[in-house]
Amino acid sequence: MRFTDQFLDDIRDRISISQVVGEHVVWDKKKSQPQKGDFWACCPFHGEKTPSFHADDRRGRYHCFGCGVSGDHFRFLVEKAGLPFPEAVEKLAGQAGLQLPARDAQEEARDRKRKSLYDVMDLATSYFEQALAANVGARARGYLHERGVLPKFQQMFRLGFAPDSRNGLKEYLASNGVTANEMIACGLLVSGDDIAVPFDRFRNRLMFPILDFRGRVVAFGGRAMSPEARAKYLNSPETELFHKRRTLYNGQMARQASHDGKPLIVVEGYMDVIALVQVGFEGAVAPLGTALTDEHLGLLWKMTNDPVLCFDGDSAGQRAAYKSMDIMLPMLKPGVTAQIVTLPDGVDPDDLIQKEGRKGLEELLNSALPLSEAVWERETRGANVGTPEAKAALEFKLKNIANEIADASVRKHYGQAFNDKLYKFFRPQRQYGGQQQRTNNSGYNKDAKSGGYSNAKTQRGGYQVSNALKKSLSASNSTSGVASREAVILVGLINHPELVEMHLEDLAQIDLQSSAARKILDVVISQVSANHEIKSKQLREALERRGCAIDLAQIDNVVRQQGIWQVTPEANSQDAEVGLNHALALHYKSHRLNRELKAAEMALGNDPSEESYERLRDIQNQITSVDGTEALIEGFGSLSGRSTRNL
Ligand code: UTP
Ligand code: MN
Repeated sequence: MRFTDQFLDDIRDRISISQVVGEHVVWDKKKSQPQKGDFWACCPFHGEKTPSFHADDRRGRYHCFGCGVSGDHFRFLVEKAGLPFPEAVEKLAGQAGLQLPARDAQEEARDRKRKSLYDVMDLATSYFEQALAANVGARARGYLHERGVLPKFQQMFRLGFAPDSRNGLKEYLASNGVTANEMIACGLLVSGDDIAVPFDRFRNRLMFPILDFRGRVVAFGGRAMSPEARAKYLNSPETELFHKRRTLYNGQMARQASHDGKPLIVVEGYMDVIALVQVGFEGAVAPLGTALTDEHLGLLWKMTNDPVLCFDGDSAGQRAAYKSMDIMLPMLKPGVTAQIVTLPDGVDPDDLIQKEGRKGLEELLNSALPLSEAVWERETRGANVGTPEAKAALEFKLKNIANEIADASVRKHYGQAFNDKLYKFFRPQRQYGGQQQRTNNSGYNKDAKSGGYSNAKTQRGGYQVSNALKKSLSASNSTSGVASREAVILVGLINHPELVEMHLEDLAQIDLQSSAARKILDVVISQVSANHEIKSKQLREALERRGCAIDLAQIDNVVRQQGIWQVTPEANSQDAEVGLNHALALHYKSHRLNRELKAAEMALGNDPSEESYERLRDIQNQITSVDGTEALIEGFGSLSGRSTRNL
């Protein structure tokens, strides 16, 4: 319903913002000046120890100088207490002693209808409750007993039983004056064009009423009592009352519990919620027949800044966990986060509590990971970072993940946290053996995992390179003229002409991007072919004579700027060869990937399936990781006695 600005102003005039906010915070006595209508408190929207949340009665607004939230009376209740706007207005109008304005007829009619649907759902709930208590419910009661649901909690959750009948509920409701259309609108009957006589949707099922945040039954979940049933759980369809993307099982009780300082815990099933509540975790909720949605998360974050998300240890649970992490990242705000708990495979919270009681659950909750840790775990578990390319790919992936975060400050800190972790993650696995390395010409450190040491010097080196890497990454694609990787190849050849001979076959076939690069390579090959003993100096002179002076200066500059010392004239021949090999390897890889990319793009055009899209994305990711020239720098050895550069 729409409220006039005048009406909202009337409310604001009668109630001060400090009154509204004051129900949710404790004012800081020292900093506040009540006589001036000037109030300060620790912000109720983000965790803090010193008050930076300000309420200004003269302006009727609040603002937090810490996290930046601000608003008026209604906004506060919407954001803090999770009330829908109209309810916030209703509530404050009541406090202000104002009559709600008359509403339009259509609105009234819709409201009446909705109201009567709630009544229908309530009637259905009592029908199921009665059935559970009656003879027909004996088996269901036995089942609940077996599963350890105590009578007190059966009543609290209004559990019931739907008898194995196609019209039991239908007749009960009809005898209470409910029309078939209303039953259908409530999702209680199976109906449709091809169904002559609509019949009860829930049959021979244990019934879990699903309440909205105001405690009204809006849907049901029904657990099959017969092992032959097609679905273990059957839920109400979406109706005017029930939107599963926005509903949480036990949401109302959990909101209160969380308000009272209890943890807000998201589990997967109805039985899990009930088991948690039975051992005193009233803040338990579950989504309903759907994975956690962004709307669910919005609801959770209205209740607390730090909900705990529990996922089953099986692969479906893992997928669900990963998906919700992806949903959460863009939504993070300063102080607003989540913790992730993963259960052992094949155990759900209900099982755990049956076996180990409340203590088992407490221990589990103690193992919760902050979201950032959980994301890190996800990306690095079992990751093989034995090669520079793999390291680069991991770094790239984590950078992209952090970039998903909309809030600039949280994004920055995620980036930093990941960088710190990468630094530690890569370090202990490295081992540069000096002399041994000489036997390994491939440019890859095959023994990367076999040991490792670190010292202050390499650590400092690590930081320096980390910055150099960032620069080179952005330079790699923005260099006009010759691309970085190609520049490395060319400069390596020019500074160490003896390498040209060794690679003549490969070089004759190499596919370079720019015409400048191709020309330089042509000159180099023809010069070396003509004179096998040619020295770098003579080669450079030849290039200048052939009009390549400017391009030569550019590629020298690229190599110098990126600090790729292996291909400089001073580097020894073996280092240069390692460098060249590595650059060539990356070059080939990137070319192969580009060919694959074209094929994948075509495949996607012909068959726009999730799979072809995934394939394309995978290739794009690989290309980007190869393109990051950090991979190039990373792998170059320490033959010239230099300290190892690493991340
Ligand atoms: P589970 O299969 O893990 O059920 O589904 P559970 O809660 O452990 O059930 P019990 O212990 O065997 O009784 C978890 C949740 O997924 C939804 C339900 O919401 C269920 O609580 N679900 C599951 C369905 O909607 N349909 C199904 O067929 C199965
Ligand atoms: Mn279970």
